Amino acid sequence: MRIDILTLFPEMFPGPFSASIIKRAVDGGLVSLNIYNIRDYTHDKHHTVDDYAYGGGAGMILKPKPIFEAVESVKGEDTCSVILLTPQGRPFSQSVAQELSRHDRLILICGRYEGVDERIREHLVSDEISIGDYVLSGGELAAMVVVEAVVRLLPGVLGSEESLAEDSHTDGLLEYPQYTRPAVFRGWSVPEVLLSGNHAQIAKWRREKAIRRTKERRPELLDRVSLGKDS
Ligand code: ADE
Repeated sequence: MRIDILTLFPEMFPGPFSASIIKRAVDGGLVSLNIYNIRDYTHDKHHTVDDYAYGGGAGMILKPKPIFEAVESVKGEDTCSVILLTPQGRPFSQSVAQELSRHDRLILICGRYEGVDERIREHLVSDEISIGDYVLSGGELAAMVVVEAVVRLLPGVLGSEESLAEDSHTDGLLEYPQYTRPAVFRGWSVPEVLLSGNHAQIAKWRREKAIRRTKERRPELLDRVSLGKDS
């Protein structure tokens, strides 16, 4: 998979992209992550990327031309999704991450300042994504969140010990409680059933705990899950 990120702050990316699972995926050739500075697609002496809003109002708006030129240059002849990170976008979720992980190429545009010229939305972008109902200063951290969630879903990225299947949200439920050694820590014991070696019992206990935890913390998630006859 190839992911291209267009930003005014390319210096924000190397840190998060050079550690842990993303680094391993890049080093292993499973994903290529490319950062482009939108300012490099300006033609004036001051490398202007923003301007005042028509109609007035506080704040600067990202101009269309540098962003159109950046996307056109990076995209070449390919067809690929062009995604704007913005608090106005559709909510990001595990299922959106799964959907994006099936693409060969993505272009992510990090919005900044008070907004982007509407023609970018209307004529350049094919999708808009928000990572939550709060406002960041720009789309950079949101793009990192999307990349992290998508890359770990790519085939071969996670080893079997980091398997996806039981992650929170993968099956629409929050994950069940997990324990490791010691069996008793400061007087607090690991639930007996987990030490029993009875795999059917353990699976049943985990499913019950996952459902209970989801009910308590995120009841709205349960509306979207089919729980089966025994729940
Ligand atoms: N840019 C600013 N805030 C954002 C958010 N919540 N999600 C995605 N992009 C953003």
